Amino acid sequence: MPPIYLDYNGTTPHDPEVIAAMRPFLESEFGNPSSSHWFGTNPREAVAKARGRVAELLGCTQREIFFTSGGTESNNHAIIGIARSMINKGRHIITSAFEHPAVLEVCRYLEKEGFDITRVPVGTDGLVDPAEIRAAIRPETILITIMHANNEVGTIQPIAEIAALARSRGIHLHTDAAQSVGKLSVKVDELGVDLLSVAGHKVYAPKGIGALYVRTGVRPEKFCHGAGQEMGWRAGTENVLEIVGLGKACEIAARDQKSNYAHMRMLRDRLQAGLGTGDRKIRLNGHPDRRLPNTLSLAFKGEDANRILDAIAPQVAASPGAACHSDSVAVSHVLTAMQVPQEWARGTIRFSVGKMTTTAEIDQAAAIVRGALS
Ligand SMILES: Cc1ncc(COP(=O)(O)O)c(C=O)c1O
Repeated sequence: MPPIYLDYNGTTPHDPEVIAAMRPFLESEFGNPSSSHWFGTNPREAVAKARGRVAELLGCTQREIFFTSGGTESNNHAIIGIARSMINKGRHIITSAFEHPAVLEVCRYLEKEGFDITRVPVGTDGLVDPAEIRAAIRPETILITIMHANNEVGTIQPIAEIAALARSRGIHLHTDAAQSVGKLSVKVDELGVDLLSVAGHKVYAPKGIGALYVRTGVRPEKFCHGAGQEMGWRAGTENVLEIVGLGKACEIAARDQKSNYAHMRMLRDRLQAGLGTGDRKIRLNGHPDRRLPNTLSLAFKGEDANRILDAIAPQVAASPGAACHSDSVAVSHVLTAMQVPQEWARGTIRFSVGKMTTTAEIDQAAAIVRGALS
């Protein structure tokens, strides 16, 4: 028996409906969508349909959706693309100290290219204060990039408020929505963003596929030069198989968002209660309410997260600190940004549930973790 999977923020299993939608494109529909002959027809139509499904989930038009290889690539396109295209206006970018490395490292790279980066702090609950953004804006600010929801602690940022500020100053706003799409209702017009990144493997589609929303009229620099696919913006023969998978995953996400939200939240809260956060030695990281419905980042005071995880590993799979790119328990930049004290941060475990998680699994996992702690 594999362990109980409580690491849905790391990645999600493939939805059986996604596998079924992809199967023909693995088995028989091998054609190139750019081919004008018979073999190109179904793949071309499938890519168009998938684009429509992503657009519908985000509340935008199909022409505003570009397929990429995932969240990291979408963030690179958005941030570097805007930085390069707006260079005549300025070289200043605002982000937070709290972002995923797929944003932080892109900003660090741009710094080496002569861009000026302001990293606004977050509060102890992980929230960015829009007043900090307002104070950081300069005449030469070209881009604000703040994640929608944090992957480690789940805190949901006030993107709409930040968007109002950005818009009033004529600054582009990008949000990394890799963790929020599928878990929350994510609509680009409600958020007011100009660019938004999606990662397929967080919404029950395969790894290696994603999308970038770019608002009509916003023109990041072309990122990949070649034969003109993706409306001339990202060249390269389309990853039809996974594009179809992402399209199906987005269709399902739109259909089931409300019920999945309720299910995940109920299980997450049940786990939290089952682990006894009333205990003086256990506390929650992140905002208690403005939080993803599936995410439970718990700090066990004076413990070593890896020791707990090793003890429960045969039965429960969860993550220390920043999970999807590291198995080290060195205090993550997210907990550091939130000023979580060392004795709590070193004992932090992120549990993240998903739509496939069951009540029985949660009750079992809570008992196993409690056993390991005692
Ligand atoms: C918030 C966030 N942004 C970006 C990424 C990177 O996405 P991908 O793995 O698709 O490149 C992840 C996940 O690893 C994430 O959690």
